[in-house]
Amino acid sequence: MKQLILTAAALCTLAQGIGAQKFEGLAQTPPMGWNSWNTFACDINEKVIRETADLFVSLGLKDAGYEYVVIDDGWMKMERDPETYLLVPDPEKFPNGIKALADYVHSKGLKFGIYNCAGTLTCGGYPGTRGFEYIDARQYAEWGVDFLKYDWCSTGAGNGDLPYQQNAPASYTLMRDAIYKAGRPMVFSICEWGDNQPWLWGEKVGHMWRVSGDIANCWDCELSYGGWSSWGVWSIIRMRPGIRKYSGPGHWNDFDMMEVGNGFTLAEDRTHFAMWCMLASPLILGNDIRTMSKDVLGIVTNRELIAINQDPLGIQAFRFIDEKGYEIWVKPLDKGEWAIAFVNMTDGRLHIDYDWRKHTVKDALFSRDIDFGKQTFDLRDATHNKAAGTSATNFVRDMDAHDIVVLRLTPKK
Ligand code: GLA
Repeated sequence: MKQLILTAAALCTLAQGIGAQKFEGLAQTPPMGWNSWNTFACDINEKVIRETADLFVSLGLKDAGYEYVVIDDGWMKMERDPETYLLVPDPEKFPNGIKALADYVHSKGLKFGIYNCAGTLTCGGYPGTRGFEYIDARQYAEWGVDFLKYDWCSTGAGNGDLPYQQNAPASYTLMRDAIYKAGRPMVFSICEWGDNQPWLWGEKVGHMWRVSGDIANCWDCELSYGGWSSWGVWSIIRMRPGIRKYSGPGHWNDFDMMEVGNGFTLAEDRTHFAMWCMLASPLILGNDIRTMSKDVLGIVTNRELIAINQDPLGIQAFRFIDEKGYEIWVKPLDKGEWAIAFVNMTDGRLHIDYDWRKHTVKDALFSRDIDFGKQTFDLRDATHNKAAGTSATNFVRDMDAHDIVVLRLTPKK
């Protein structure tokens, strides 16, 4: 009898073990790709996605590291199939279906992503996944999905048709398990806007989690729409002090799809992109890459900035200095290197004259520090791809409004 009970207990543990985890080994550096939402909202179709995949290759985005082509909300019909309960791709937007599109994206050597929501409806009002987790996960696996962004609309009382609020860790864990059971590795992108502190439970559940409500293409603003707001680049950067310790390989703080190329000045585009690199955020483009300028392409394919984002340690930068109209951000890198960003926060030009030796950098969280009196570094301007002297002399620069300089510091031998 004892033997029987023990065997039953072992089987239970085994059963819980199967399907009770996320796919490990994915997103070891921040995922890079493109998502349709910021430019197209629900007005998407397979032509846009195919053209985007083509351009990943011909514009050199793929070579620079961009990999995931992700369709956001708006890809399905308003109702599930009444007999199978499967989600149905909108036949006008996607006449060849999702599987053919995923195959096409894969044929370019890229990965394919899709969107749904933990609630009864998506944020755009299409059928959500609540109650259909295993069906939908299996469907995505069959289509060849490599990345699932999973949203948080219609999950509670007064928000959709539920009399109570869904529990976020439980809802995301349920979908995680469904994906695992379906058997196809997918990056699982948690998108509940930071409302339920996903940094506290997300590591075991997904590979990245949004830290804010939706991004807006403004430097520093809150655009209020009654019940919810969207946020400018600096509003998002400042929103969650203290969460950098939760981000790292396989589990990233996600500062949202970028607005680079969507109306900023070039200096602001540069700063936005470079800050996402410093923050080790997923680098998901949100502009129409079919019409992007050469300058914007240059910014988003800057290999030296991307290398800082993709550094194997995966440490998120912290604000080191905030004064006299500028901020300095610091990101420890692998092999004793560092990235240090100077940002002109003013609306005019700014002269920077920075004496390294007057500052000691300390990152207590990751046990890294620099004493510039004892150690000299070679400086490389990663924003403009050129050498920038050493830390033995002051760093002097005139900067445009809202511009950034990111330096890569290598210990001098
Ligand atoms: C939410 C998300 C956005 C986008 C839309 C789609 O607002 O935060 O990123 O996915 O839903 O409706």
